[in-house]
Amino acid sequence: MTRANLDKQPHEVAAMFDDVAAKYDLTNEVLSLGQARFWRRAVAEAVAAGPGQLVLDLGAGTGTSSLPFQEAGAQVVPCDFSIGMLAEGKRRHPELALTAGDATRLPFADDSFDAVTISFALRNVQETEAALREMLRVTKPGGKVVICEFSTPTWSPFRTVYTEYLMRALPPVATRVSSNPDAYVYLAESIRAWPDQAELAAKLQRAGWQKVAWRNLTGGVVALHRGFKAA
Ligand SMILES: C[S@@+](CC[C@H](N)C(=O)[O-])C[C@H]1O[C@@H](n2cnc3c(N)ncnc32)[C@H](O)[C@@H]1O
Repeated sequence: MTRANLDKQPHEVAAMFDDVAAKYDLTNEVLSLGQARFWRRAVAEAVAAGPGQLVLDLGAGTGTSSLPFQEAGAQVVPCDFSIGMLAEGKRRHPELALTAGDATRLPFADDSFDAVTISFALRNVQETEAALREMLRVTKPGGKVVICEFSTPTWSPFRTVYTEYLMRALPPVATRVSSNPDAYVYLAESIRAWPDQAELAAKLQRAGWQKVAWRNLTGGVVALHRGFKAA
């Protein structure tokens, strides 16, 4: 069993995802109480890619987060640094162009993609701002970024209940449905340590993204941030 710490050494994070790959999507559905599908639809609407457009889905894991772009007729490149997640993705979706790569050193040329998106993965990247700069580098001028990540519930009573739900309920539930319950202890801890909506927006701006804005989903349990590369 591999447990990543909050200092997120990249090899520990990759090994942790290798361990959970087989049951990753099922565990997600159970722990998000079915909200995961709704969040994925919202990401696809925000990216709004269609035929003739090239989308990079970073930290794509098993490729589940890439499917809505393919369904919308865009060409999607799912990229991840966990070989276990990529192998599971290849088994389930052989048609996807799954690609191995590290978010902080992307194996793509400058100005390649119409849109770059990352769902539930930026939190796991050790150097957040390095990844945001790499995402900017590979985006075409005028192109966009959409980040889907756990965030801070806006209504304080709900925030308290949510934090209790996360810290207390998540690990015991994960023990029953996941192959690596420790990964879900890390999940709860990493959500608590993650910057709130305004702080993440500031990081995007510092990395060079323009017209940065966000939208809360499920009361701020998740936030979608977007930005544009200067035309
Ligand atoms: C929680 S999963 C999300 C998978 C998928 N995007 C989804 O929404 O289901 C996070 C993924 O980010 C990947 N990841 C974490 N750090 C990464 C990095 N530095 N470069 C590439 N992938 C990374 C992990 O390997 C893992 O597959």
